[in-house]
Amino acid sequence: MKKELHIGIIGCGAVAQIIHLPILKRMAGIKIKAICDVDKRKILAIKEKYGIESAYTDLKKFFVENEFDAVMILTPTNTHKEIAEISAEYCKSLFIEKPVARTYKETEELRKFLEKKNVNVMVGFNMRFRPDAMLMKSLVEAKEFGEPYLVRVGWFRPRSSTQSWFVNKSYAGGGVIMDLAINIVDLAMWMLNYPDIYSVTAYNFYHTTKNVEDSSTAMIKTKTDQVINFEVSWVLSNENEFFYFNLFGKEGVGLLNPLRVFKQVGTSQMELMDHHRTTSANLYLKSYENELKHFFAAVNGLGKWVSTINEASARMRLIEAIYKSAQTNKEIKLST
Ligand SMILES: NC(=O)c1ccc[n+]([C@@H]2O[C@H](COP(=O)([O-])OP(=O)(O)OC[C@H]3O[C@@H](n4cnc5c(N)ncnc54)[C@H](O)[C@@H]3O)[C@@H](O)[C@H]2O)c1
Repeated sequence: MKKELHIGIIGCGAVAQIIHLPILKRMAGIKIKAICDVDKRKILAIKEKYGIESAYTDLKKFFVENEFDAVMILTPTNTHKEIAEISAEYCKSLFIEKPVARTYKETEELRKFLEKKNVNVMVGFNMRFRPDAMLMKSLVEAKEFGEPYLVRVGWFRPRSSTQSWFVNKSYAGGGVIMDLAINIVDLAMWMLNYPDIYSVTAYNFYHTTKNVEDSSTAMIKTKTDQVINFEVSWVLSNENEFFYFNLFGKEGVGLLNPLRVFKQVGTSQMELMDHHRTTSANLYLKSYENELKHFFAAVNGLGKWVSTINEASARMRLIEAIYKSAQTNKEIKLST
């Protein structure tokens, strides 16, 4: 039966304040029971602003003094593993912002630990919850495009955080790949129903950064002869964000945003659907809202766990191959 869920939030920085807290606050059936952050001034201000019962700087106290149905980990990436392992002792439903950890190895260690503790995890890959992407996915499933053979996806925007940890490999795990590419590669893999990967060829660029890449492009080949091409950059953009996702199938083509659908009829293509362009801001906000609705439905036993840590770990393996290919200037083959 559906009940009011008591939520704990760990980490009250940019993504919590801009995205999650405002959405949670207006969601029916959700109560933010307590927040925790190492920055005392910040949590006191947020506690006041959102009318939250309790705020903590001590993680242990946060757990000992509360009972949570679910906990959201929204801290810098280097802290995810340790915080998730502590959280697992007290709560069996976790949401961890992407990237789940800095490396494939760290992700696998966490995945195995949480599996042993019987903890359910959703990782915050919000792009697959964009309304236009969800509609495109249903068309892919209905075979409207025939068998997809190529995805071209690109994302150009300023980096998602201005904090210094975000451009430090030992904290963030990497640069624009960990910020943007990981999310659109997840979107492509989800859209293609998780094909096995054959190989990766990638190039990284360091135009404005030294410690992490600020631009990257790669070709990912699957064992079923599909290709995913991506390009991402924090710097190769004008002031406007630019995102595209083009899926080519043997019988049609789907484009985002706006969602446009073309079907092959004889030798020509016929346009079947032309949705009005929705602003990126709206699609983003909606993607996070949909993501959280899925999370809470799963916590409540009313829906399936999606975007799990198993899936996130598979994405991290691919990300590791992307870095390796860029470093060695070689095609990297993934074994099964
Ligand atoms: N899905 C998305 O679109 C998206 C967008 C932005 C950020 N993110 C991810 O969200 C996470 C947070 O990013 P952000 O931009 O909000 O970072 P941020 O630096 O703005 O905020 C992090 C917060 O965590 C707090 N913190 C640090 N260490 C802590 C600890 N040990 N215990 C408790 N609190 C601690 C900091 O004081 C800060 O308030 C990162 O993993 C990032 O990659 C995801």
